[in-house]
Amino acid sequence: MKNIAIFASGNGSNFEAIATANINAKIKLLICDKPGATVIARAERLGIPALIYNPKDYPNRAAYEEQILTNLKDAEAEYIFLAGYMRIIGSTLLEAYEGRIINIHPSLLPEFPGLDAISKAFSSGVKQTGVTIHYVDAGVDTGPIIAQEAVDILPGDTLEALEARIHQVEHKLYISVLKEILK
Ligand code: GAR
Repeated sequence: MKNIAIFASGNGSNFEAIATANINAKIKLLICDKPGATVIARAERLGIPALIYNPKDYPNRAAYEEQILTNLKDAEAEYIFLAGYMRIIGSTLLEAYEGRIINIHPSLLPEFPGLDAISKAFSSGVKQTGVTIHYVDAGVDTGPIIAQEAVDILPGDTLEALEARIHQVEHKLYISVLKEILK
């Protein structure tokens, strides 16, 4: 059984999907950089320890990540899964967890990296977007791709309907990749 940490900034539907799935891993910690985010309430309800940081309390990214790293080591976390963590991972965490940080992104990377990937795809007129899971490197939504799944943008689609279908795919794909990586 591997120990993992999940990093999230917002709603936390991917966090909850992982936390309630039958996986060969123990979620030791939720790391959240947004005090008040919905994901924190989900962690409380699910009995998963949550550490909430305000990055503004630290002089720089390295100091912020050093604090996280101390907490990850105390929890003996072996892997980091980003689930809607809207912050770049810096060299402090990248070096400590090289090859063991995984991200999920709601597009078919390299298309539509960065923020608002679903709405960017929706308004661009493409007929297909999707979900990518990849190892994290120093870039924004770059790094070696582990898995991708396409989601069609349908005639008459709404952004909300597309978002809901993408999240459904995310939850399933993230759990199957996680199982594969941790087996
Ligand atoms: C997910 O769609 C995830 O792919 C995306 O944030 C959303 C979080 O949803 N991540 C990124 O855009 C990373 N660049 P959730 O909080 O309900 O899991």
